[in-house]
Amino acid sequence: MDKKSGYKNLAEKFNIDLRECKFLGEGHNGIVYLLPDGKIIKIFKKIKNCESEYSILEAVRGSKYFPKVYGSMGNYIIRDYVGGECLKDYIKRNGLDKKVAKNLINLIEEFKKLNFKKLDIRCKDIYVQKDKSLMVIDPKYSFTREKSFPKHLSKGLSKLGVLGDFLEVVRIEKPQVYEEWTGKLIESGIL
Ligand SMILES: Nc1ncnc2c1ncn2[C@@H]1O[C@H](COP(=O)(O)OP(=O)(O)O)[C@@H](O)[C@H]1O
Ligand SMILES: [Mg+2]
Repeated sequence: MDKKSGYKNLAEKFNIDLRECKFLGEGHNGIVYLLPDGKIIKIFKKIKNCESEYSILEAVRGSKYFPKVYGSMGNYIIRDYVGGECLKDYIKRNGLDKKVAKNLINLIEEFKKLNFKKLDIRCKDIYVQKDKSLMVIDPKYSFTREKSFPKHLSKGLSKLGVLGDFLEVVRIEKPQVYEEWTGKLIESGIL
């Protein structure tokens, strides 16, 4: 029983009937359904993962890059649906244009502002909106894993053949950051 609200579970609190929900996707940690009102429910295998993801989404509340959360109980989180297209699929169709590249730099800048320890994100967890702004769907280890540059993001962009395009935009927009990142990318064998 949730002491604060008096509800036994989220299904009761949010009036959720899974028969009315649409399956959206499944990952390592959980399964995600679209609710009739446009929000989503993510059901986790482990309560621990649910709690850590919820605490990240709580900490970034108000950031335009993350879905708003409405509540969590046990192994569920209710949050906003994120539309748009996964960055991976977007790049496969369009390549990496300057605007999206700039928004990727801004996303990492936002991570710094939010005091993330992990300045990194995978392409599959970024969704490109119609106006080319970006949203993150699945934040993990943001405050716990030390990563001073976008290693996995760069690896992903490299696989898609657009790491050079991305770094060229970084070089023009943020020369100091370019020096730092390229140094670390060479060190880790990605460049
Ligand atoms: N906020 C969201 N909006 C739209 N689709 C989502 C959202 N969150 C997750 N999904 C879909 O559900 C899948 C699994 O969710 P994800 O959060 O990545 O789970 P896991 O932590 O298990 O990796 C995603 O790959 C995506 O297709
Ligand atoms: Mg995932």
